[in-house]
This record gives sequence, structure tokens and C-alpha cells, in this order.
Amino acid sequence: PRKIIIDTDPGQDDAAAIMLGLGSPELEILGITTVAGNVPLSRTSTNARIILEFCGRTDIKVFAGADRPIARPLVTAEHVHGKTGLDGPELHEPQMPLQPQHAVDFIIETLKCEAAGTVTLCTLGPLTNIALALEKAPEIAGRVRELVMMGGGFFEGGNITPAAEFNVYVDPEAAAAVLKSGIPIVMMPLDVTHKVLTLKSRVEKLRAIGNRPAKALVEMLEFFERFDVEKYGSDGGPLHDPTVIAYLLKPDLFSGRDCNVEVETASPLTAGMTVVDWWQVTSRRHNARVMKDIDADGFFALLAERIGRL
Ligand code: BDR
Ligand code: CA
Repeated sequence: PRKIIIDTDPGQDDAAAIMLGLGSPELEILGITTVAGNVPLSRTSTNARIILEFCGRTDIKVFAGADRPIARPLVTAEHVHGKTGLDGPELHEPQMPLQPQHAVDFIIETLKCEAAGTVTLCTLGPLTNIALALEKAPEIAGRVRELVMMGGGFFEGGNITPAAEFNVYVDPEAAAAVLKSGIPIVMMPLDVTHKVLTLKSRVEKLRAIGNRPAKALVEMLEFFERFDVEKYGSDGGPLHDPTVIAYLLKPDLFSGRDCNVEVETASPLTAGMTVVDWWQVTSRRHNARVMKDIDADGFFALLAERIGRL
């Protein structure tokens, strides 16, 4: 199986991504690292463990990472995800421990111990942990197989400011450092994730699965979609983060192209904006494969099938 580390700030859609990974035998999750984002670090670290316990997978270790962005105060998103970040189902106190090792050190150690080019980083939150790992041990850049990130947006605009997507906005300096690192990057921007909506019919298929993870996930999604349905009048919420895992399982669901992507870090108006050279109007280095379209029905079929295996 393909070895992955999931770096995350759960988040209901992060939970869907983790469950998709857990249900997929093609993937071996080496560890889950948490970061401050949707909610503060102590809560994302609690939530990651709750999700694993919902799935009976307490064998997977959780490592807490950065509690704030590299150069800015933390911005959170309780207005979207609720007070806990995982609002919806009844949440318990996790029984499984948090690992004593810092997430950044776990990432570095894993990339050094595993054979070069075999570990994929899946990032579902702000890129703080990855940027800190690259700063501490720059030599790991050449050992990463691929980094698949949920973040950014170009034609679609932003969701936290008119210009910026949340994960990049929270820590633009980190995103900029990762995009400069030379790691092969695949980017899932809002242009993709706003095409996978939790339509009623899709949620009903998840509900019909009937196992504990599916039940918890449906309760999370019903809470999560409230925000978008009310704010944008859309027909369900965008299931951002599982697109990252789906890409590893079925890349053919997606289409995009290699581009240059730069992150705005200076302007207060557009901080965290991802400037994607989609039309190749510069000669700047292609540093990411940027996805733009997705087969949404194929994605939901995959998600339901894999949650059904949990
Ligand atoms: C991203 O921000 C978070 O709120 C979601 O979990 C997702 O990772 C979408 O902009
Ligand atoms: Ca997330």
C-alpha cells in the first residue's frame, strides 16, 4: 500500500477524509498529525482521536503539531464547524493517548526512516507543520513522494476573504514555503471542492450504510452543510478535504494541469490568495498540479463504498 501521513485540523470534512483513508486498503496511514486551524490545536488533536475511535482504529498514532501559524495570530472557523470543530454527533472524551512526540519531528523522522520517494503527505489544514518540518530539516523535501493539499482557489475566489481560501489564509507564509520547496505538489482548490456538494440523495446513501462511522459522519455533514446552505443557498455543503484522499485512490476522477502557484503574503487585502498561472502567461516554474474539475458522482460512490468497509 501507498504510505501516507495525514496532516489535519478536524473539521467535519477532515473527518470524512480520514474515514475515506481508513476504509482504503491501498493506503497505509503512518500517522495523523494535527495542526491549529478550524479550531485550536488541543481541540483538533482531540477530534482526530475521536474520529479514529469512531472507526475502531486506535492503532493509528496521533501527533500534535503547531498551535499557531508561523507569523500571524491564529484565525479559526467555529462559525462553520461549530464550537468543537466536529459538531453534529455526540462527542466523547477520547480514550486513546496523544503521542508525546511533536508532529513536526514525527514528519521529519518518518521521511528520513522510510525509503526516499515512498511517503505521501496529505494536508487538510493550514500548512504550518510541513513548513516547520522543511525549515528544521530541509533535506526532507527531496524524500517526499508527493504532497496532496486541500487549499487555495482561483476562478472560484475565496471562502474566508474574497481572495483567499481558509487553509492558505490561516498560514500564508507556510503555504508559500511549501510551494517553493520543490516537493511535487497536487492542489485541490475550492474550484474542485465546491463541485462536490453533500446533496440530500448522497447523504442518504451514506446514512443507509448504517455502521458507526457512517452514522457519525452523516451527523457531522448535516451540521456542516448548514453554513453553506444558509449562506450561499447551495444544495449541500462542499466536501473539501476528502478530495485529497480520493485523488490518491482514483486520480482519473480529477482533471487539472501543471501550473505555477504563488501565495500572496504582503497585501492585507489579498493575504493568502493563491495566484495560479492557469493560462501559462508567465515563465515561472511549474510547482503544482492544480486540479479544476472532478467527477462528483464518481467521488461520492467511492466515498460511500469505502465508508461501507469500515
Ligand atoms: C478548508 O477549510 C476548512 O474549514 C476545511 O476543513 C477545509 O480544509 C476549506 O477551505
Ligand atoms: Ca480541514
